[in-house]
Amino acid sequence: MKVLVIGKGGREHAIIQKLMQSPRVDKLYCAPGNAGIGEHAACAGISLSDHNALADFALSEGIELTIVGPDNALAEGIVDVFESRGLKVFGPNRRAAEIESSKVFSKALMKKYKIPTAEYEAFDSAEAAIAYLDKCKYPIVLKADGLALGKGVLICQNHEEAVSGVRAIMQERQFGSAGDRLVIEEFLTGREVSVLAFCDGTYIKPMTSAQDHKRSHDGDKGLNTGGMGTFSPTPFYTDELDDYCRRMIYQPVIDAMRAEGRPFTGVLFVGLILTPEGPKVLEFNARFGDPETQVVLPRMKNDLVDVCEACIEGRLNEIKLEFEDNAAVCVVLASEGYPGEYKTGYVIRGLEAFKDSNMSDKRDYYIFHAATKKVGNSFVTDGGRVLGVTAIGSDLKEARRKAYEAASHIDFDNKYMRTDIGKAIDEA
Ligand code: AMP
Ligand code: GLY
Repeated sequence: MKVLVIGKGGREHAIIQKLMQSPRVDKLYCAPGNAGIGEHAACAGISLSDHNALADFALSEGIELTIVGPDNALAEGIVDVFESRGLKVFGPNRRAAEIESSKVFSKALMKKYKIPTAEYEAFDSAEAAIAYLDKCKYPIVLKADGLALGKGVLICQNHEEAVSGVRAIMQERQFGSAGDRLVIEEFLTGREVSVLAFCDGTYIKPMTSAQDHKRSHDGDKGLNTGGMGTFSPTPFYTDELDDYCRRMIYQPVIDAMRAEGRPFTGVLFVGLILTPEGPKVLEFNARFGDPETQVVLPRMKNDLVDVCEACIEGRLNEIKLEFEDNAAVCVVLASEGYPGEYKTGYVIRGLEAFKDSNMSDKRDYYIFHAATKKVGNSFVTDGGRVLGVTAIGSDLKEARRKAYEAASHIDFDNKYMRTDIGKAIDEA
């Protein structure tokens, strides 16, 4: 079968790598893709926002399954366009994707259906939000309603910071129309865990757990980024917690979406915080996480095509999800300066050493390209997060050691990485 993946980052490279293991796949396509993806898939240089052009491409190539990666495309309704043109597509439609693209919607849904989350109020004017801040306990959390490249959440230590935060989001419109509405939320403390789950509108099947490192520097210091590394599984997410979340969060949210006339099909990303009162939802995303996917899919035993089809056809209950009894760590190699300003265009050295290991099905190392391009025969850096180096080990310690060893063999000018990805496991 011919399969198309929409997107251009490390997450999409991990999806492509997983699809390469499927005996059901004859040919892989990606739009727009990147240089690393281009080694395994035919890349089409079509913009992510041109949904009709993407659907034209899928029809003309005879694509039989499309998997959508990025949040924007889902929020803008790419799935609706593909479905209306008779194409089989994996991902939530626009109304279902609102669980990520509107924090006001997702908070109201959780409140209505009693899904554990932080207490909150929603506002559509800066004046009302600022008046409310007088009554708050600090720290407090401000969240722009819409998509803001992962930057729309501000943790404010005091009243003054919160007032300037409200102004920045709602009046100076730092995140554009994403700041038309605002959620002000209770500050929670605890470990954060990410769980990605396959959904078919009625059933939900969680994958193995993962943990992200969002800050740019060691010790969770520095600015928030798209993610500097991940590990899976996380020892803090026990079987007991899993059982609780299945009963209190995962199935209830799928039932709630169906009851609201927005059945959710695709991957639901549940961002959990393990508070002293139990797990609570920090956020829902309507897609595979990046870089969580880079540690979760390499551990999955199932054929991804089988699972996606079962979701689309409403028969996920027939699938038993299985994961290897091992561990994975992904270290992101970034350009020095990210998430602020950085330079690109540097030649990446040392990738050849992984070429063979990139070919086998069961292997220890995966080099996922996030932002690279090809100049002549060389790969060069082309963005803030350049590569994700994933290593598999029998346990997290081994996976971490191997990931850092592999990362040391790859070099480019201005290379930057955190040195403590997965270190939290030492406390487990
Ligand atoms: P979100 O995009 O909603 O996941 O928020 C981004 C990050 O902000 C999360 O990963 C948390 O580290 C932090 N955060 C969000 N909401 C809260 C909260 N209510 N209390 C404490 N930290 C939070
Ligand atoms: N790693 C967080 C995200 O994909 O949003």
